[in-house]
Amino acid sequence: MIKNITVLVAGATGDLGQRIVSELLLGDSLVRVLTRPGSGKAHAVYGGNDRVEIHEVAYTDPAGLVSALSGVETVISAVSGARPVIIDAQRALLAAAVEAGVARFIPSDYSADYRRITPGSNRNFELRRELAAELDAAPIRVTSVLNGAFADMLTGQAPMILFERRRILFWSSPDQILDFTTKDDVARTVALVALDEDAPRVVEIAGDRVTARSIARTMSELTGTPFSLQWAGTTGLLAAASKIGRRLSRDQDETFPAWQGMQYFVSMFSGEAELRHVNNDRYGPHEWNSVRNVLEAHLGFDVIAPTMVSRPPA
Ligand SMILES: NC(=O)c1ccc[n+]([C@@H]2O[C@H](COP(=O)([O-])OP(=O)(O)OC[C@H]3O[C@@H](n4cnc5c(N)ncnc54)[C@H](OP(=O)(O)O)[C@@H]3O)[C@@H](O)[C@H]2O)c1
Repeated sequence: MIKNITVLVAGATGDLGQRIVSELLLGDSLVRVLTRPGSGKAHAVYGGNDRVEIHEVAYTDPAGLVSALSGVETVISAVSGARPVIIDAQRALLAAAVEAGVARFIPSDYSADYRRITPGSNRNFELRRELAAELDAAPIRVTSVLNGAFADMLTGQAPMILFERRRILFWSSPDQILDFTTKDDVARTVALVALDEDAPRVVEIAGDRVTARSIARTMSELTGTPFSLQWAGTTGLLAAASKIGRRLSRDQDETFPAWQGMQYFVSMFSGEAELRHVNNDRYGPHEWNSVRNVLEAHLGFDVIAPTMVSRPPA
């Protein structure tokens, strides 16, 4: 691992981006934040921090990007969006990074494993796969961090746990393994990858590996009331529903429309996006946040001693 390097974070004003910058600042790195002109948030978040330089540059300004990247060793992208961001903005960032002689590039993947999914089954994953082909052809060292879904989303954004109705939804199989990692654990790993000269093309992490059945058991234990499994259909049916949703949607460039959420569940419950080479120990021992910890905190219980729970499927 190296120290004292300059790392540029694009999308550093975002949810994950801010967590990544906090992790980088725990070490000795100097951090440059790349933000779009007029975005307005970077100065509020990072102004006054003498280890953070703010560079306001448009992704349509190649010379400005090269200048912001000059002297940078690792670029971390944490931008979020659909094609105009995942492909267009990151392509511009990649070209500028190559021109500026940046050594390493971490694209804004932070997802389940998009590499083997069926074409047409998940728009956001396929954008990542499309960019990956360009990254692989570029003369720069690239590492993608794959982490499954953000565990934090189980408390609301990913509507799999019906807290009021005491049900856990599943599609096709309640025993399909599902990978979850908290945003903080992802951010920690990304910051470590940024300093890792030998990082492989893909680093796979999973803070926890659960199933719908084990989540039902966890919720029953935590609340003292039984949570039951609810079959919501097959992944094939869900894929068909997402196609209809997509066809009816007015804004094709919305980042997380409901139909994209359905596609995420299709990829996870079909097993196509399951992580196959999880290596949680690459950067030494760490207490990963479990799904149980996340749910316990959400339900308002004290998490006395967070323990890493890698729960086998029930
Ligand atoms: N695995 C999962 O379950 C999961 C869940 C959620 C998100 N993610 C992924 O995690 C990554 C970060 O997501 P996030 O939720 O932290 O993102 P976010 O908070 O919505 O935004 C990240 C940043 O992207 C930049 N951005 C927004 N629109 C842009 C545009 N048109 N062009 C260029 N930059 C733009 C903004 O930075 P500036 O305004 O400073 O330029 C923004 O602060 C994304 O890849 C996202 O898909 C994964």
